[in-house]
Amino acid sequence: MPGDRRDGVVDVLIVARFVEETKQLHQESLWWATTVTPHMGELPAYRVKAPSNNPTCTLANGQPSASPGSVQQVRYGDSNGGLVVLSDTQTIEVLAHFARERIPERSVHAKAAGAFGEFEVLEDISDLTDAKFLTGVGKKTKLLTRISTVGGEKGSSDTVRDVRGWATKFYTEEGIQDFVFNDLPVFFIRDPIKFPSMNRSHKRHPQTNVPDNAMFWDFHKNNPEGIHALMHLFGPRGIPASLRNINGFSVHTYTLNKADGSYVYVKWHFKPDDGIKNMDPKTAVRLAGEDPDYHVKDLFNTIEKGDYPTWTVCVQVMRPEEVKTAPIDIFDCTYTWPYEKYPLRRIGRLTLNKNPSNYFQDIEQACFSPSNMVPGVGPSADPVLQARMFSYPDAHRYRVGPNYFQLPPNRPANTVYAPYVRDGPGTMNGNYGSDPDYVFSELRPVAQSNRVQMPTHELWTGHVTPFSTSLTDKDFEQARKLWEIICKEPHGKEQLLHNIIPTLQDIPDGLKKEVLNYFGRVDQSLKQCLEQGLAK
Ligand code: HEM
Repeated sequence: MPGDRRDGVVDVLIVARFVEETKQLHQESLWWATTVTPHMGELPAYRVKAPSNNPTCTLANGQPSASPGSVQQVRYGDSNGGLVVLSDTQTIEVLAHFARERIPERSVHAKAAGAFGEFEVLEDISDLTDAKFLTGVGKKTKLLTRISTVGGEKGSSDTVRDVRGWATKFYTEEGIQDFVFNDLPVFFIRDPIKFPSMNRSHKRHPQTNVPDNAMFWDFHKNNPEGIHALMHLFGPRGIPASLRNINGFSVHTYTLNKADGSYVYVKWHFKPDDGIKNMDPKTAVRLAGEDPDYHVKDLFNTIEKGDYPTWTVCVQVMRPEEVKTAPIDIFDCTYTWPYEKYPLRRIGRLTLNKNPSNYFQDIEQACFSPSNMVPGVGPSADPVLQARMFSYPDAHRYRVGPNYFQLPPNRPANTVYAPYVRDGPGTMNGNYGSDPDYVFSELRPVAQSNRVQMPTHELWTGHVTPFSTSLTDKDFEQARKLWEIICKEPHGKEQLLHNIIPTLQDIPDGLKKEVLNYFGRVDQSLKQCLEQGLAK
């Protein structure tokens, strides 16, 4: 019978006889079987039989494939027509898997470059923390970094004015430590429920499906606590020259702590050793069209050449007793800590030295979360950070699946024993065999860590109340200082105005007036400059 297979090849003689008989039976237009083997003319180089050191192509079940490029079909004479048969597992597998090969892209930070590297401790900070990966000068820890834009989709251009995300995963001996940072030191909001709204206002309009300046300014004018972040965004650092030349800021206050219960508050800073370098907006616009993957390529090629980018890792430190008299609210991520009062303290060096061998596996499936912390590192009472500790693992469970932590980039380097996290799609860690899957079993008792995980000094009592922050004049102080600094830089003022003005030109007049008043609260001279620029 046609379709019979011997070692994957149809017996051509049988087929020929069948065709002959069938032809006689049906003189008219006939579907007759000719062959389900590959075309046997001259074989192109890529189809020449594999020498033994080349991998033999198989189907996903391991079954060797005689012809990865052929489709089994009942042929229509000598034409290219034919009916494809349902028993062609190879074709069905390839087509069906293709339709399922995307995972949802990140709702934010979808476009990114990524690389592996290492962190080395350069200074003794044992007075601050006993986190093992931060202890012992010379200690090295492997890591994975993903640097992203925020608003654009996975295929969007690199050289746009946007915040850059700076996510790093440290594979420490005490578990995964993630730092999910940004390249700008402050954030646009401080009430976490506003995060989706803020991002939508930066993305596409619900009707036109196009980014919309009116929507952008409508959000920010009505959520004015973001003024400091906006001043940074529209400043020269809003478009970096390369991903090798940007800062990484924790933005939030974190804690460093020790097993004895002592702790300090810190803000993290990753400083590029090659310095900060920015891109002029004209070049950026050109590259966004001509070379949309400019930053991704640059990081990959630089690492491939062996020219490894490095960052100095530092912290600003505040003792708990200093918090009350601090000039800023340390739980408010719209503020920076003044450097004069809280100088940078160097800890170590971060190097990116290895490109991913497969982008999808290593970077697309990488799941970073501020909730991934090891003993010695802790959160603070910044509500945005608290909310993020929920939001990221939630996103991963949806985007990658509930067992995302078993995948290569997310797998801890130390032994994991989490027998109450069981089953689910893609389980591949042995699933704890016959161990009890419920707590407090006497059949297989578990040992517990004695390490203090979180500082115990903050005592919390009180009622649960709805709370949202309100705006005060203080919220414009750091933005004003930044404006003063920008004005002193060569062409700083002109550049800032040049970056803001085009975004105001096409918005409704009423909103434009209110946005100008908003900038007036930073400095009346800024408002006047913008007005003059718009009048030209
Ligand atoms: C309420 C505030 C925030 C919420 C709810 C939030 C939520 C999210 C979510 C859901 C993702 C996508 C995660 C994924 O699908 O893998 C994400 C990505 C990211 N966020 Fe946030 N975010 C917030 C604020 C921030 C802040 C303040 C920073 C920086 C300090 C930040 C840095 C990042 C980075 C770097 C990524 C990309 C991570 C990666 O490379 O996979 N986010 N955020």
